[in-house]
Amino acid sequence: MKHVILDCDPGHDDALALFMAMGDPQIDLMEVTTAGGNQSLEKVTKNALSLIELVGKKVPVYSGCPTPLVKAPKWAGYIHGETGLDGVKLDPPKTRVAGTHAAEQIVKTIMENPDQYVTLITTAPLTNIAMAALLEPKICSRVKEVIMMLGAVHTGNVTPVAEFNTYTDPEAAKVVFEREWPITMIGLDVTHQAICTKEVQQRLVKANPELGEVLNGLINFFRDSYKDEECFPDPPTHDPCAVAYTLDPSVVKTVKCPVSVETKGEVTCGMTVADLRAMAPKDCRTQVGLALDVEKFWNIVEKAIANLKVEK
Ligand code: BDR
Ligand code: CA
Repeated sequence: MKHVILDCDPGHDDALALFMAMGDPQIDLMEVTTAGGNQSLEKVTKNALSLIELVGKKVPVYSGCPTPLVKAPKWAGYIHGETGLDGVKLDPPKTRVAGTHAAEQIVKTIMENPDQYVTLITTAPLTNIAMAALLEPKICSRVKEVIMMLGAVHTGNVTPVAEFNTYTDPEAAKVVFEREWPITMIGLDVTHQAICTKEVQQRLVKANPELGEVLNGLINFFRDSYKDEECFPDPPTHDPCAVAYTLDPSVVKTVKCPVSVETKGEVTCGMTVADLRAMAPKDCRTQVGLALDVEKFWNIVEKAIANLKVEK
């Protein structure tokens, strides 16, 4: 069993990641924290609450940092629409957030539970996680591992070298990568292989017809965005890759290597620089994903989503 805090910014692919984390019985989803990213903090938090209510779960949601540590925010409406979840009709949430200081809550949960108990999965810019590490450095040795959808070893998406979550808050990513916790970076090298074709989409809908309308709404909108903005015929479902790796590490081929985050470069700001030149030093605590076992991945997604019940 993995005891998980999911820090996210839903977001179409965050929504699928959240569904997986709620659906798979091997995950105990302790709490969800939100950060401004794909859309404003207010919008992504509302989306998280609605998605959780939709499937009748009682996971506490804590909203966190509204803006990056240093940079001015630039939300991804061009991919996720005005609401952050355009294309899906969700009821406005009836529940409220359990708290508004996600970083403090992350510290509290990690410190109040046994050593090596909590796994942190992040699918948003790392603002909340950096804040938490700065508030209480001891969390970095207490966390079991940090598994993040973020970065790219080779090619970026917002710029030729920078991926959206790193680009949005590079200073936060730098803080997080410079701390002493085991990090697995699942970046675009992996997630660009998680392509949701129409066949895959049908499979997912068949696995959970009750959720079919929402899944189709999510994936169809995401497909159109990726076609228009990034010339992908079908969308890469980034964030679910981090949850799939948490459930079964063999789904991603990883390599240990030092990673530095570029925060100053005129054309390279937000780049995750992975040093693949030689064998990683013995004490290296970062690893990066390089490839995805695509069939195994969709099986994991399908199985998790099949378990969800839609609240009528
Ligand atoms: C990442 O950026 C966001 O738009 C997605 O939700 C994902 O976390 C991909 O670059
Ligand atoms: Ca995300």
